[in-house]
Amino acid sequence: MGGHKGFMLWFTGLSGAGKSTLSERLLREFQTRGYKVELLDGDEVRTNLSKGLGFSKEDRDTNVRRIGWVARVLARNGVIAITAAISPYAEVRNEIRADVETEGRTSFVEVYAHAPLNALVERDVKGLYKKAIAGEIKNFTGVSDPYEEPENPDVTVETSVDSVDDSVTQILAFLTEKGLIG
Ligand code: ADX
Repeated sequence: MGGHKGFMLWFTGLSGAGKSTLSERLLREFQTRGYKVELLDGDEVRTNLSKGLGFSKEDRDTNVRRIGWVARVLARNGVIAITAAISPYAEVRNEIRADVETEGRTSFVEVYAHAPLNALVERDVKGLYKKAIAGEIKNFTGVSDPYEEPENPDVTVETSVDSVDDSVTQILAFLTEKGLIG
């Protein structure tokens, strides 16, 4: 089976695109294998580490930088740090990757959980898209606030097409190929 290295597994994508679902599945998969792993989920981070922050660009950037910092500290100590925040701005994601690569002690793997907006609006698991379209929630990512797609994600999973199992398999295959997991 082999062991694993510490690395950051950074999900990005719109609300409802499957970041939490996939990251929870990977968390369980790694735990089952006996790997050291932590999950920093966007919604959970916002109730503790980033409590009080809103959804302006400034607050999102602060939130995402905090997640990046914690994940980097974990990863350089041998933990697989999975993050699942929308992280809508390319500049901050790239800044985190650059910091990791400059430091040279761990790896940054970017996973784009992609689904077309109309599929997300149709499913609307949390009922937030309906409210955003009605103008009841301002600055909602993908509706009334920007989402900047990653230009060079390490893995892109098409979550409106592929099953959770298929997406997880694709991510595990990439990590194995890179020698990050055994
Ligand atoms: S991020 O932009 O700072 O990375 P984060 O992932 O932490 O976002 O939080 C996104 C979650 O907050 C969404 O899944 C949704 O449940 C909730 N949310 C509430 N208001 C908004 C908003 N204006 N835009 C996006 N998500 C929002």
